[in-house]
Order: sequence, then structure tokens, then C-alpha cells
Amino acid sequence: MKVTVVGAGAVGTTCADNIARKQICDELVLVDIKEGYAEGKAMDLNQTAQIEGFDTTIVGTTGDYTKTAGSTVAVVTSGIPRKPGMTRAELIGINAGIVKDVTSNILKHSPDCIFIIISNPMDTMTYLTLKSTGLPKNRVIGMGGILDSARFRYRISEAMNCSPNDLQATVIGGHGDKTMIPLTRLSTYGGLPIGNFLSEEEMKEVAGKTMVGGATLTGLLGTSAWYAPGAAGAMLTEAIVRDEKKIMPCCVALDGEYGESDICIGVPVVIGKNGWEKIVDYKLNDEEKGLFKASAEAVRTMNESLKELDVL
Ligand code: 2OP
Repeated sequence: MKVTVVGAGAVGTTCADNIARKQICDELVLVDIKEGYAEGKAMDLNQTAQIEGFDTTIVGTTGDYTKTAGSTVAVVTSGIPRKPGMTRAELIGINAGIVKDVTSNILKHSPDCIFIIISNPMDTMTYLTLKSTGLPKNRVIGMGGILDSARFRYRISEAMNCSPNDLQATVIGGHGDKTMIPLTRLSTYGGLPIGNFLSEEEMKEVAGKTMVGGATLTGLLGTSAWYAPGAAGAMLTEAIVRDEKKIMPCCVALDGEYGESDICIGVPVVIGKNGWEKIVDYKLNDEEKGLFKASAEAVRTMNESLKELDVL
């Protein structure tokens, strides 16, 4: 079992670190364009093997995609991250070309691989991957909803002074500060609606903090976050490799589900060895449906710029 992570920056390396500790593959290939960088990160990670007790071998390479041959999963984190005050959408001009190039290189050596896209703007990069590779839709998955939902649970747990592990809470829609939809109505604590414990106002505040989760961290760190995005990428990789059949909110191609088509956007899906295997219908109410439609419109507008950039 081989997994590739493209991009040895903070998100890619954190993702690789988490994957190695999960003991889910024999070999993990880390690719970067910066000379010696992936090799160095791989060496450093390999030197944690005895301390952490894992047997995965990490191989670093400066752009030699032959080393990635036969990968089951390829996690794409390449591209530039946000700086304070930037939106994810502003990265499109640089990241679209990089993602298109990386995914085509991976496919040459791993024709059966499943792509996990983390590069931003994630919804549009997922759509670009789907369209430019021509792969079956179940093999292209954008990781945004898992991260946003983890942030949502963190904010609910903070407001309720409870364990995030006792919460079920999902964020659907686009992975943007204005496009994501924290599903407060459907969030539960020990099986009970969180509305039993939080006021309308508190729930609004929790949802608001969730939506600007990435921007808040970018403001504090001077660049975008990595621990939670990397860990979320590893969680998704594990669900595929172990064929877990877990429900995770991911960015996938819709074909009429949730009232949308010709778009990749976040909805709850079942993840297993075939990638995303099924879309779960959360039976949105009219208000949530309206928010989802507006989110899809914003993502679609962003996708339009792929044509202007001449990458699609
Ligand atoms: C974030 O929200 C990297 O988009 C990612 O932190």
C-alpha cells in the first residue's frame, strides 16, 4: 500500500506525519518542487519512526513522479497558502496551474489512484481535477468539510463546555468564509439537539466563528493553518485505505443531489475503498436549501474563472 502527498509544506508534512502514525501504508511518498525539501522532511519524519512506533517508510522526492507509481491515494496540498486578509478565491490564479500539473503527473504513474484535494480554493481545485483528469467522479474528493466540521465541533464544545467527541455536527456547502453552512439545526450532543443547550444567539455565534475559522488562524499565524487541515487529510486517507464506510462531509461532484449539477461542493458522503461511494441526503429545510443554493452559485462563479485562466 502506497500513499502520495504532494506538497511538503506545513499542511502536506502534517498530513504525512499523521498518515505515518496511523500505520495504514507501507510507503508514503512526499513530493515537492523545492530542491531537497521533500527529501529533508522525509528524513526527519523517518527519524520519528522508532519514537512514534510506526513502520511506514517515507520517501521524499524533488518532482520525480516515478517514485509515486502505484499509489492508492494521492493527497494534493500544493500551491500557495493564504496571507492575512486574503480570501481562498484569490489563490486561484497561481494554484489552478499547479494543481492541474500535479494531478496529471500523478495519474501517469498511478492510473487507479483516488485524489484528495486540499489546495485552495478547494471546491474549484476539486472541480478542476475532476474535469481535467476525466476520472470517474467517486475518485475525486475535496477535503474541506471535514476540517470545517472539526472547527464547528470545537466551537460548539467551547460554548457548551463539553467534549467535541460527544458532538455530531456537520458543515456543508463551499469551503469559503461566506459559503460554508454549519448545520446548527442538525447538530447533536449525546444524540440531543444542541438547541436544548444553547440559545439561538449562542448558536449563531458558534456558526459565525466556524465560518471564519481559517481566516482567524491566518490572522494569528500570518499564513494558513496546518494541524487541523493535515489531520483531516489523513483521516480521509485512512477512511479510504481501511474501507471504513464512514460518513464525512466532502467536496464531491453533484449530479442532481441537493438540487445541483456540474459542480463540486461539500455534502455528506460515505467514504470507502472506492473513494466517495454514496451521497447522504440530510433532508435540508427550506432555509438550509436556500443557503446551499447561494453557496453553489458562489462556487460556480469561482469555477467560471478557470475558463478565463485557460486551464479548463
Ligand atoms: C483552512 O481553512 C487551509 O483552507 C484551509 O485552514
